Amino acid sequence: MTNSLVVGNWKMHGSRPECSDLARSIVQSLHETTPASVEVAIAPPYTALAAVKEILKESDVRLGAQNCHWQDRGAFTGEVSPSMLKEIGCDYVILGHSERRHILGESDRMIAQKISAALRNGLRAILCLGETLRERRAGRTAAVVSRQLRIALKDLGKAAIHDIEIAYEPVWAIGTGQNATSEQISRVHNQIRNFLVKSFGAGKGNNVRILYGGSVKADNAAVLMSTPQVNGLLVGGASLNPDAFLQIVRSVTKQ
Ligand code: PGA
Repeated sequence: MTNSLVVGNWKMHGSRPECSDLARSIVQSLHETTPASVEVAIAPPYTALAAVKEILKESDVRLGAQNCHWQDRGAFTGEVSPSMLKEIGCDYVILGHSERRHILGESDRMIAQKISAALRNGLRAILCLGETLRERRAGRTAAVVSRQLRIALKDLGKAAIHDIEIAYEPVWAIGTGQNATSEQISRVHNQIRNFLVKSFGAGKGNNVRILYGGSVKADNAAVLMSTPQVNGLLVGGASLNPDAFLQIVRSVTKQ
């Protein structure tokens, strides 16, 4: 396993100057604390990607986008292709986020196509998955996670898994202030790990980073990171506050 990964998902927040300021604060503070064992990525809205890239240029902080289309070009009004993201300097793209699955109606099949397209264009894909509260209450968590994984990764060649991170984000924990318990998290992360090892072999399957996301905050990051099979964190709301985000990165560094 390489370094842990902390990703800040800024969602639809921030004007270009606001995003630039936030990126600047993060770069400066990370530079001072230099956490060597943790990789950090931030995913601003599309409109701020170029401005933030300028600020990240001299740092180790990586740039991510929050979505992309599955074609490189074409008549897809309002969409952004993975080649466009690569051109702007993105390293990562978040795919299958629950807000896209549940608010914008993205299907498992669409997400699978997006993953292939991202990898084809030299981006690393962060595949998000997780169950809704209704699915958890109905005892369907394992089945939902299994379906999301199977369809998203079905078309990938064995080598391609090297360029993927998985983020388990229970939908009911996103933006609610409610975390999954360590037991709930490690059960799903173990399921994901077993799937990866079975599908891609022990060497490759054990090397994929599995992140947890959903109401990660400065005061719970250390506990979440100490949960078995948690290799990083996907942070939404708290990543908009540079102090909170840095504390999260620091608690990951200490693991
Ligand atoms: P949250 O969002 O940290 O605000 O719960 C996480 C996410 O949506 O990735």
